[in-house]
Amino acid sequence: MRPMKKILIINGPNLQLLGLREPGIYGKLTLTDINSGLESIAKSLDVLTEFFQSNHEGAIVDKITAVWNEKFDGILINPAAYTHTSIAIYDALKAVNLPAVEVHISNISSRENFRHQSLTAPACIGFIAGFGAYGYELGLRALLKHLSNISNN
Ligand code: DQA
Repeated sequence: MRPMKKILIINGPNLQLLGLREPGIYGKLTLTDINSGLESIAKSLDVLTEFFQSNHEGAIVDKITAVWNEKFDGILINPAAYTHTSIAIYDALKAVNLPAVEVHISNISSRENFRHQSLTAPACIGFIAGFGAYGYELGLRALLKHLSNISNN
């Protein structure tokens, strides 16, 4: 029997405020709501999840690079504002060389100019933006599909 897949789900700065923070842009669901929805989907697919949120770039880098010891199969990440600034998170994703999917609740391409560029997405297999909290489910499913394609080859 194949071991259960294990996915690390990372949320960056200010996402602990979802539900309160600019609900017109980010919606009314809290991060707890989003994470528990993802956990039930993952359970129904026999997938293990671990959730991590931090407002600190270095803590996110530490968590990503810890996957070497903790044997994750993939990463779902919303780096939030660090998307647009963090070479350190890009480097960490490249270093661990695991399939990662980037998610944004809002459509970063249709917002302020400074949000148009993602420094972190090029280290990912793909990214999803603009579909609200549903993007996390889409991202998780896309990541699992990618992993099952790899293991069927
Ligand atoms: C975000 C978009 C980022 O530009 C912003 O800094 C966030 C949230 C999103 O999910 O839409 O904090 O990543």
